Amino acid sequence: MGLPMVLGRLAVFLYLTVHCGGSSPPNFILVFADDLGFGDLGCFGHPSSLTPHLDELAAGGLRFTDFYVTSPACSPSRASLLTGRYQTRSGIFPGVLYPGSKGGLPLNETTIAEVLKPLGYNTAMMGKWHLGVGQNGTYLPTRQGFDNYLGIPYSHDQGPCRNLTCFPPDVKCSGFCDLGVVKVPLMHNEDIIQQPVDFLNLETAYSTFASNFIRDSAQKGQPFFLYYPSHHTHYPLFAGPRAAGKSRRGPFGDALLDLDLTVGEILHTLKETGVLNNTLIFFTSDNGPELMRMTRGGNAGLMKCGKGTTYEGGMREPAIAYWHSRISPGVTHELASSLDILPTFAMLAGAPPPKVTLDGVDMSSILFQRGPSQREAVFYYPTDPSEKNGVFAVRMGKYKAHYYTRGATHSGTTPDRDCHFTAFLTQHNPPLLFDLEADPSENYNLSPDRHPEVGEVLSSIQRLRDDFQTSMVFGESQTGLGKDPALEPCCNPSCTPKPDCCSC
Ligand SMILES: *[C@@H]1O[C@H](CO)[C@@H](O)[C@H](O)[C@H]1NC(C)=O
Ligand SMILES: *[C@@H]1O[C@H](CO)[C@@H](O)[C@H](O)[C@H]1NC(C)=O
Ligand SMILES: *[C@@H]1O[C@H](CO)[C@@H](O)[C@H](O)[C@H]1NC(C)=O
Repeated sequence: MGLPMVLGRLAVFLYLTVHCGGSSPPNFILVFADDLGFGDLGCFGHPSSLTPHLDELAAGGLRFTDFYVTSPACSPSRASLLTGRYQTRSGIFPGVLYPGSKGGLPLNETTIAEVLKPLGYNTAMMGKWHLGVGQNGTYLPTRQGFDNYLGIPYSHDQGPCRNLTCFPPDVKCSGFCDLGVVKVPLMHNEDIIQQPVDFLNLETAYSTFASNFIRDSAQKGQPFFLYYPSHHTHYPLFAGPRAAGKSRRGPFGDALLDLDLTVGEILHTLKETGVLNNTLIFFTSDNGPELMRMTRGGNAGLMKCGKGTTYEGGMREPAIAYWHSRISPGVTHELASSLDILPTFAMLAGAPPPKVTLDGVDMSSILFQRGPSQREAVFYYPTDPSEKNGVFAVRMGKYKAHYYTRGATHSGTTPDRDCHFTAFLTQHNPPLLFDLEADPSENYNLSPDRHPEVGEVLSSIQRLRDDFQTSMVFGESQTGLGKDPALEPCCNPSCTPKPDCCSC
């Protein structure tokens, strides 16, 4: 060990001793729901959802009212979460990755797991990856800093529906899933252990995996990072026996309860192993609700539209930070983003931030001092970002300007026609401007005649947008590399005829 390294470690040790009241770096648990809207949790106002453990985290922790993801779609939002960088940099656009996609999150991107590993962290992930599989598992979580992985490497509707048995147990899923691809696999590290996956026992398998991982780390006295991107509450809905039929909200509520119960198991294990006091739990969701699923989709509460759109309902998400005895209970209205998680975890662990352009900022002053956010703005990219159109909207302080608006198939069916796919791309010049504090539902465009501040606000936002776009370097599109059926994960690689024979 060279002198600089010794000094580096000493600095980390001193930091943790002073700031954390102990000598061991904190553990991190990151829970990421799927297609869960701003209004879906009990602690965010839903009247019939049953989320006792997430509510417990919210009551004992910090609830964010102004927390954003970077995309109204899955893969790009996940890329940003794990790298602290906009999806445009890593190339996770347009749209999402498929089972046979040739691309994935480039291996030279640094994930939260890779930031923490050099400090001796034990790392694990369970659930939905959706950042690529590739040739011989090139893009799996095990290649991006996760020591252990259990899960489905993409969305669970990216396989034939007939193999997804939903609640109640004997009723097949209604609606459309992807046909003509392999059945949905369950992977352990890089091996397929079930194909098709047994959905009804999946969530309990995750609970067991999480408990074993926490116990094992605690026993070894090793700090740990557990990333749990849940399949819930993405379509098609399912729930294991412990949750099926137990909520007041039907299949959606049951799926959400299934997720909540795993959070409960995690909490229970943290308490039992005595590491709760040294563990930061962060919860949020990847994008807004899939309103097209009607009662089987989520709810954006009082936010406009949902998944696929750059209205608030597409990208403002419920978020909770919980750290027993470190974060005092309350609510914050500060601006924060999923981009800020990597820099915050890195700072708390004493890890140097990766040597790349980061779009996230450290949010520890919000967590521990209720201080102001270091975040100046939020930029809203559509699902198909382009250098030509740039970001569709910008939030600065309480104001949000829409340069472009567009509805989305995923946001169909509610009475607001702006959300539907028939609301085609519209450029706004001057941009639509909303005061999100007075009008979180984006109902009332501020007109310059009645609001003299509009001109000045719009020029400040325009400057932020210009600066941001000038500094943005688009990476090579990974979804644009196309698909190859031969890359779809198959438990019996030499079988014929594919994809149907991929069943074990
Ligand atoms: C990763 O490699 C690609 C291709 O060489 C390059 O364009 C990109 O900038 C690299 N990204 C990082 C974070 O180094
Ligand atoms: C993938 O794995 C197969 C079988 O293990 C091997 O023959 C092939 O060379 C590998 N391909 C790549 C690109 O590593
Ligand atoms: C955790 O911290 C609280 C408050 O400081 C303390 O009462 C409790 O005993 C601690 N629990 C453990 C397991 O260290």
